[in-house]
Amino acid sequence: MFSGYIARMHVTPKSLLAVYQTQGHRMYDGEPVTQLEHAWQCGFLAEKSGAHSALQLASWLHDVGHLWVNAEGSPTLRGENDAHEAVAARLLMPLFGPAVSEPVRLHVAAKRYLVSTRPTYGKKLSSDSVRSLALQGGPMSEEECAQFELEPYFSDAVKLRVWDDLAKNASWFEISRDEAFEQLSSLMDAVASQNASLIEQRT
Ligand SMILES: [Fe+2]
Ligand SMILES: [Fe+2]
Repeated sequence: MFSGYIARMHVTPKSLLAVYQTQGHRMYDGEPVTQLEHAWQCGFLAEKSGAHSALQLASWLHDVGHLWVNAEGSPTLRGENDAHEAVAARLLMPLFGPAVSEPVRLHVAAKRYLVSTRPTYGKKLSSDSVRSLALQGGPMSEEECAQFELEPYFSDAVKLRVWDDLAKNASWFEISRDEAFEQLSSLMDAVASQNASLIEQRT
């Protein structure tokens, strides 16, 4: 199901940036923010929480799958699960490695986990998140929670999820669009060069 979406364009950091430059103005339907505002707010919260750069980038790009599949409106309003976390992880893994792609792949599961493990968490979810929760499998069972905790990027996924839920503030965008794109571009460069030097050290 995802390969068509991903094959549609050659995926590069530049093409990911272009997705936000051309489609970031779209509203995150069901929420009072645009896709660019949501992405920037989530990345900003990660940065202010002292997250490492790969997790900051994951936070920035966690919903790129929504934009990549190019569906208009909120799929959940149509009763659809667009599997945007899986689409995004497939895009991000070859470019930035698992420290970025795994928290992104797990950010939907992290919501299901938090609903089950933190009694107050579910009460704070937005209506779009509540609607998508049902489509995404609902709260995790005890066994699913135990399995989820074994994921190598479990902790980063939970952190990302908490920032994701907070990043839905109307009119919160402290910099210009161009500055936001520059931030994203620098973050992508930083993570790519960290990965390159890690590979160099291993060879
Ligand atoms: Fe998402
Ligand atoms: Fe999100």
